[in-house]
Amino acid sequence: MRQPIFTKHSALLLAALITASCQPAAPDPPADLDPGFLAAVFKPPAESAIPDGPEGDSIRRGLQLFTQTQTKASAYVGSGLNCSNCHLEAGRKPESSPMWAAWGNYPAYRKKNNMINTMEDRIRGCFIYSMNSSASPSGGPPPPGSDVYKDMESYFSWLATGAPNRTVMDGRGFRKLAATALGHDPARGRQVYQEKCAECHGASGQGTKGADGAYVYPPLWGDHAFNWGAGMGKISNAAGFIKVNMPYGNGDTLTDQQAWDVAAFMDSQERPRDPRQTGTIEENRQQNHQQGDYYGQTISGDLLGDGKP
Ligand code: HEC
Ligand code: HEC
Repeated sequence: MRQPIFTKHSALLLAALITASCQPAAPDPPADLDPGFLAAVFKPPAESAIPDGPEGDSIRRGLQLFTQTQTKASAYVGSGLNCSNCHLEAGRKPESSPMWAAWGNYPAYRKKNNMINTMEDRIRGCFIYSMNSSASPSGGPPPPGSDVYKDMESYFSWLATGAPNRTVMDGRGFRKLAATALGHDPARGRQVYQEKCAECHGASGQGTKGADGAYVYPPLWGDHAFNWGAGMGKISNAAGFIKVNMPYGNGDTLTDQQAWDVAAFMDSQERPRDPRQTGTIEENRQQNHQQGDYYGQTISGDLLGDGKP
């Protein structure tokens, strides 16, 4: 399957140096990403450019559904997450699986469910796994044709204004980290977690809530996290996400080794069951978990996948 690979080309670095010396007044880009890369990558329109009228209204609702999924789509959300907790900057940030890069590539075949996926199918998948919709008030994702899909699609398509169609654009998906010589190890990752992550996400990955009861820092494992079927449970996805984006506000400061290890630690913790499991955990492991995760393995005496700590 396609896996966007991004490396910081030396040409981009050179461009960055030249740009930096010519444009001293330009505002500082976020520290997480290379300035040359940011300058070269596709830029979606500014929020202030959302048009008036029915289409603009739908785009605005889509934006809110994406960033405030907890409240705007609460009937379908069983986790403590918003879409934008993983697709950062409201789905704009390159290498955080931005929606402008996704839009022009659907419908597409997905091995995960062995069928052609429309964008609606793809969004539904994120509700089922990342948002754990089986634990939501309605017990499932938005029904086919729901306005939730229509509005999100309006937003994504608007973000992709001027983007090429059917093209794997730079910045699509999450960064693909090369494997390290040491491999990844949850035990080493525990130490990285305690030093670099626990202050926000909590000692047991439960996240941190504000006075209003909403998460300020989202949960990483446990009952309110993404479930065992989610893409973030795949260690390579988590490692790439963490390397670029975490610790929040200090992305790209961990070594690749630390990112792999802490991803392994996070992804070896218990979380809600995989909704695809109909038979045993072992059967589901063989069917759906052959892509680098800890599902169905016993780590520190705990069988992972049963949803129980
Ligand atoms: C826990 C993190 C997480 C959350 C929350 C999340 N996603 Fe994702 N999303 C991912 C990961 C990881 C991938 C890519 C890996 C995969 O294939 O599953 C992805 C992929 C996607 C893609 C495909 C991107 C592409 O380039 O093809 C779309 C569209 C998407 N998500 C939409 C959503 C929407 C809409 C929501 C909220 C309803 C959401 N996501 C919530 C982690 C998340
Ligand atoms: C300063 C606080 C802070 C620190 C430290 C931090 N995070 Fe986060 N993390 C956040 C915030 C805030 C978000 C949501 C980002 C958003 O919505 O824009 C997030 C999102 C995430 C997500 C995706 C959403 C989810 O809950 O599944 C993962 C995974 C994650 N962080 C892992 C880590 C790891 C691993 C570390 C340590 C290397 C770390 N974080 C350090 C604040 C932090």
